[in-house]
Amino acid sequence: MATLTHHARVHATRVIERREVAAGVVLLRLDAPELANATRPGQYVMAIPPSGEAAATALAVYEAEGKLASLLFFVIGRRTRELSALDPGDCLAVLGPLGNGFDCSQRARDVAILAGGVGIASVLLCAQRLLAAGKRVRLFYGAKTRELLVDAQRFADAGCELILTTDDGTLGMHGRVTDALAISPPPEMIFSCGPTPMLRSVARYADELGVPAQLALEETFGCGVGACWGCVVPLTAASSQAPGFPREDRRGSDVVHARICREGPVFWAHELRW
Ligand SMILES: Cc1cc2nc3c(=O)[nH]c(=O)nc-3n(C[C@H](O)[C@H](O)[C@H](O)COP(=O)(O)OP(=O)(O)OC[C@H]3O[C@@H](n4cnc5c(N)ncnc54)[C@H](O)[C@@H]3O)c2cc1C
Ligand code: FES
Repeated sequence: MATLTHHARVHATRVIERREVAAGVVLLRLDAPELANATRPGQYVMAIPPSGEAAATALAVYEAEGKLASLLFFVIGRRTRELSALDPGDCLAVLGPLGNGFDCSQRARDVAILAGGVGIASVLLCAQRLLAAGKRVRLFYGAKTRELLVDAQRFADAGCELILTTDDGTLGMHGRVTDALAISPPPEMIFSCGPTPMLRSVARYADELGVPAQLALEETFGCGVGACWGCVVPLTAASSQAPGFPREDRRGSDVVHARICREGPVFWAHELRW
């Protein structure tokens, strides 16, 4: 697994494009050359709503190329609503890049990326990196309904094989992404981001078939920088991601608590004890 980033800082970015890619889903393209240059696949930023009246919110870096970094997000509450109202020319401060990100250097040649809902925002850079390394990449992408399968063509154009699913059957296979994975030839490695029930299902599949899986966990963050311990997940103490602080009396337990925002958000499925 990739190590923690030491390049995080506040970037004063400027919005160069705002586009509603689907109802309630916004793509913000930012002029942010240093952020784009420093970001690895699976990393995120804490975006600071400009009014100063709401806390920062975690968003994956969707695109990172040249001077451009972008955020792709679902408008669900106060902070994402405020961010969605930004226009080209507006300033946006973001802290990042944060988190460990996916380890795309593994040897596997035939990989599956599983994305559910907003999880798609965390996996474009990963797909691009894996494709550039000559790997076969199958993207299993699921959403509630066809309109919420956003930007799928982008992944196809990049060279991914697409397997789409919708909960209501309006596009692709009727069912969950994990249903589609279960009836497909097993990959050598899995990269995944999505809601927790989906990730648990991916972890079960990975365990049963002995496929290594990297899971980017989604959680509501407080601080997003490792200070509040409000985002912990149980992890085997033997993991290289086990935090060294605080030194707790483990009383023989092989489980520690890792902060998703700091030690993660990407963890090996077989090391999670959830
Ligand atoms: C590392 C990381 C990366 C993320 N990347 C993206 C991204 O690229 N695009 C994107 O659309 N979203 C992403 N999210 C989720 C995003 O942070 C939340 O949607 C956002 O904080 C909502 O803020 P809000 O103020 O608009 O809504 P809030 O008022 O905070 O939330 C509204 C409702 O949604 C629920 N909720 C909030 N956050 C989450 C969550 N993470 N999981 C499940 N339910 C939640 C709340 O419980 C509440 O009911 C990411 C989360 C994490 C931890
Ligand atoms: S959100 Fe504060 S430690 Fe993770």
